[in-house]
Amino acid sequence: MPTVNFVNEKKAVEVPSGANLRQEAMKAGVQLYPGIHRVFNCQGLGLCCSCRVVVKKGLENCSSQGVFEKLSMLTNPEGFFARIGHEKEMRLACQMRVNGDVEVETQPPLNLHGEKFWG
Ligand code: FES
Repeated sequence: MPTVNFVNEKKAVEVPSGANLRQEAMKAGVQLYPGIHRVFNCQGLGLCCSCRVVVKKGLENCSSQGVFEKLSMLTNPEGFFARIGHEKEMRLACQMRVNGDVEVETQPPLNLHGEKFWG
């Protein structure tokens, strides 16, 4: 069974292969949503981009980004700004399946002032 290591929470959980990352995080008591999104989020429909995580290790063990996830990240301002500098490893937990060991960072900050934003 794959292991998901939530680095901020220092928590590792075993999940079934092909498991949905959002559902497994919720089962493990890991808070994916920052601030007001704990109440107001799209409940896993892939619309709000507030369940985003950065895959630190094991990107090859994640399901590939579908068209819907890519579109959501490009059209939602939160997703758009957050993914700058993390275009490949920034994922929506609700849209990602875990096929092998991964390490993820929950609640990554927006990158409004990062070195990669302005060039
Ligand atoms: S829960 Fe809204 S995009 Fe994942």
